[in-house]
Amino acid sequence: MANLQKIEVAASRPYPVFLGVRLEDLGEYLQTRQTLGSQILVITQPVIAELHGERLAEGLKDFKVDIINVPEGEGEKSLDRLSSLTSEAVRLGVDRSTLVVALGGGVIGDLAGFFASVFMRGIRFVQVPTTLLAQVDSSIGGKVAVNHPAGKNLLGAFYPPLAVWTDFSVLASLPWNEVQNGLAETVKHALIADADLFAFLEQHQEQIKEREQGIWREMVTRSVAVKVKIVSQDEREAGIRALLNLGHSFGHALETEMEFQGISHGQGVALGIVAAAGLAQARGFITEAEVERIVQLLKSFGLKTEVYDKSAANLLHLMEADKKNQGGRKVLILPKGIGQAVVVKDCNDEEILSAWEKVIR
Ligand SMILES: NC(=O)c1ccc[n+]([C@@H]2O[C@H](COP(=O)([O-])OP(=O)(O)OC[C@H]3O[C@@H](n4cnc5c(N)ncnc54)[C@H](O)[C@@H]3O)[C@@H](O)[C@H]2O)c1
Repeated sequence: MANLQKIEVAASRPYPVFLGVRLEDLGEYLQTRQTLGSQILVITQPVIAELHGERLAEGLKDFKVDIINVPEGEGEKSLDRLSSLTSEAVRLGVDRSTLVVALGGGVIGDLAGFFASVFMRGIRFVQVPTTLLAQVDSSIGGKVAVNHPAGKNLLGAFYPPLAVWTDFSVLASLPWNEVQNGLAETVKHALIADADLFAFLEQHQEQIKEREQGIWREMVTRSVAVKVKIVSQDEREAGIRALLNLGHSFGHALETEMEFQGISHGQGVALGIVAAAGLAQARGFITEAEVERIVQLLKSFGLKTEVYDKSAANLLHLMEADKKNQGGRKVLILPKGIGQAVVVKDCNDEEILSAWEKVIR
């Protein structure tokens, strides 16, 4: 295929990310992986199976394919669901030679990947991401997890997939609010590591909103390249991978304050990026004009750049629970101009409060 690209991710077990492939061709690729058995377990959701399952199944005719449909929602990334997947897999005769195919967004990728990482001490899996967020972000980097009442993604592993199989055409059916979640992460990738991608997003705002295929292909490919470059240098988040959390400390506090109601993750990240940029400006890391470019770009995608009727003190308090904090100190990722970011460990509460105040109306 003319637009097919393959990017290798360096990891304890390196794996390829295929971009611009077709769902129908996954089977042919798997035939070349000679150590696989004949059974494939597809874990997906009803809406995705309905929209795209047939195309995937078409290429898997030479395998024994079983499908498990998981209901929608973040709540399904749970130990209960892991347990029911296990019972179902045993019933279907899944063994160590079975390949799991995670066909879906980040919820399915994280859940099916975690299932694969622990079932019989680990069976192989392929990520087939179907949301923009999953294509540019969650399918790459080997993080898999389920949630626990005590915390999101609290039980998880670094478990690289056998491959990531990315068919851009599946994104055509994605609702706009889900597209926005992926766009927030794409802006984040551009901001931390690729000034040219940032300019590309600015130049092509309209075509992106109109879902112009060629522009989307380029946007996803460049965003994937940023994520691959970072996780390839730091598989287990001992250093540079932390930069991918830009916007997430502020955003997560806001999502928590709103009890995850009426705010999507992408909207939280967008607002978090603006707050982090405000703090970076106060430190002289970024100019006012650059902050304005960030705000305008996020706004153009309908992402949140301000919030109403919130208490900065309360949001600051909620940031104390952030997983990145070290020894009671808040660890933040701040942009340094456009195209670079830094980990900052010495932000004081006054600076964080004024960053919040800049985005609260
Ligand atoms: N592992 C990682 O590195 C990582 C990184 C970022 C986020 N995540 C996780 O990702 C999850 C969020 O993922 P998400 O944003 O993809 O949400 P999601 O998986 O819930 O998908 C969003 C919705 O879109 C639907 N959908 C998926 N593909 C579709 C398609 N092609 N057409 C129409 N509808 C489609 C889904 O059924 C779902 O209703 C969170 O659990 C988060 O923790 C993980």
